Amino acid sequence: MSQAEDHEATRRDFLYYATAGAGAVTAGAAVWPLVNQMNPSADVLALASIRVDVGAVEEGTQITVLWQGKPVFIRRRTADEIAAARDVDMSDLQDPIARNDNLSDGVDATDENRALDEAGEWLVQMGVCTHLGCVPLGDGAGEFGGWFCPCHGSHYDTAGRIRKGPAPQNLLVPQAEFVDETTIKLG
Ligand code: FES
Repeated sequence: MSQAEDHEATRRDFLYYATAGAGAVTAGAAVWPLVNQMNPSADVLALASIRVDVGAVEEGTQITVLWQGKPVFIRRRTADEIAAARDVDMSDLQDPIARNDNLSDGVDATDENRALDEAGEWLVQMGVCTHLGCVPLGDGAGEFGGWFCPCHGSHYDTAGRIRKGPAPQNLLVPQAEFVDETTIKLG
């Protein structure tokens, strides 16, 4: 190989690697948000528990907070919502289990077993449809005045219990407690 050819080959190689390198970086950047979503990063996992100030949440409204990479609905229910939830006959429920991480497994899905406080004003639940994981719509959505998942039509009542549609379970109630009058700790 002459010196000129040698130089040419080196130059070509350099260009080749430079291009490949740039390609790899681009692909990496495009893939990152997806990977990031599927594997919560260390700082997200580290937030095993968070504190949420609910002092400004008005009756009849809800806030959604992100906890461990998932939405959590915190609703301050109206007296009508509580009454509607407590009026339901247990035999009308599709899923008779409370699905409340704060109680022992298998307890009944009464409203009292799902609400955070005794009066039932506060309902805290994962904003994740138990069918295939969409985020249900709130604020009285659906045929039972609670939440509605438009993905495949699951209707949840004002206690977050599945009442109609393909979702197999009530919305999960995560570990939660009041640590002072206006602060809820999740996890
Ligand atoms: S994901 Fe909610 S109904 Fe299918």
